[in-house]
Amino acid sequence: MDIKAIKEYLGVDWLAVQNRIASSLKSDIGLLNSTNDSILAHSGKQLRPMLSLLMAKACSGGKVYESAIKYAAASELLHNATLLHDDVADGSDKRRGVPTIMSLMGPSVSVLVGDYWLVKAMELVIDASDDSSRVMKIFAKTLSDLAEGEMLQLQKAQKGDTDEDDYLRIIYNKTASLFEAACVSAAISSGASEDMIKSAKDYAVALGLAFQIKDDILDYAGTDAVGKPLGADILEQKITMPLLGAFANAGSEKEVHVRTLVSDIVSHPENRDEIVTFVKENGGLEYAVSKLNSYVEAAVKALDMFPESEAKNNLIELAHFTADRIM
Ligand code: IPE
Ligand code: IPE
Ligand code: MG
Ligand code: MG
Repeated sequence: MDIKAIKEYLGVDWLAVQNRIASSLKSDIGLLNSTNDSILAHSGKQLRPMLSLLMAKACSGGKVYESAIKYAAASELLHNATLLHDDVADGSDKRRGVPTIMSLMGPSVSVLVGDYWLVKAMELVIDASDDSSRVMKIFAKTLSDLAEGEMLQLQKAQKGDTDEDDYLRIIYNKTASLFEAACVSAAISSGASEDMIKSAKDYAVALGLAFQIKDDILDYAGTDAVGKPLGADILEQKITMPLLGAFANAGSEKEVHVRTLVSDIVSHPENRDEIVTFVKENGGLEYAVSKLNSYVEAAVKALDMFPESEAKNNLIELAHFTADRIM
């Protein structure tokens, strides 16, 4: 599927989100503006505002209110803020095929610019008129989910004992929670019923989990198209779905051995190849793909109660894109 076609379908509303993102970032500090511009010049897939606008339309019979534009812009600003912070946390030197702000300008700039984008996101949410206190609480929860998720990920990396429940909590917190905020805020902006809001949430959570599982698969099996360092997760001691799948298939003796390799990876990075081979030879990628597909199916199923519309069809398309994407 071509996500460009979805942007075209969204038309003027898509442009309004782009303009809102750019205008909300303007500052009289030259260094901040030039840094913002260089981030905006490589904007990524912009999936979250796409989801917001499609959900707003699917819930309203095609209308997009001003508050939905603000929530969509806020979702993308917040997403970029988390990436600016994440690249510092992960020591990552490449994103979207270009050097990270962290690698070009240092961790302090990356953290400060991330803070700026985060606050601009919250200003947009506060500024939106309808039911903004409910939506503010949703975004505030996402912010705390994100921080807790990153901290749990660090705690688990230190202990080396991540199991599937831990992993699912981490990826809900760091990724699916923002998908949820993007979709639920959009549904609220459209005046959707509580039942519909619940379905929007179910769709978003399942899709967010699928999205991060795919990101974690790409870290093992992606190509240069991914635009960020590959094989990075093990080096950060992240135990993700492909490795958990290989553990489930290989038996506990091998699991104990490989968990030790992951725990010692900082002093023995040369062991990464053995871990990657273990994942590939023990069906870890197939296991992760099967989990990914079941979340994509659950996301599509959650849309059952929505009336037929082009927006709904595009939400279904986006769910399939999540599984098939190579970047
Ligand atoms: C990357 O998200 C971080 C994750 C949650 C996996 P995206 O893959 O949506 O990043 P961009 O914005 O398209 O670069
Ligand atoms: C997602 O995790 C990060 C956030 C949601 C902040 P990753 O660490 O896997 O994201 P990438 O791979 O760096 O984009
Ligand atoms: Mg990262
Ligand atoms: Mg990743």
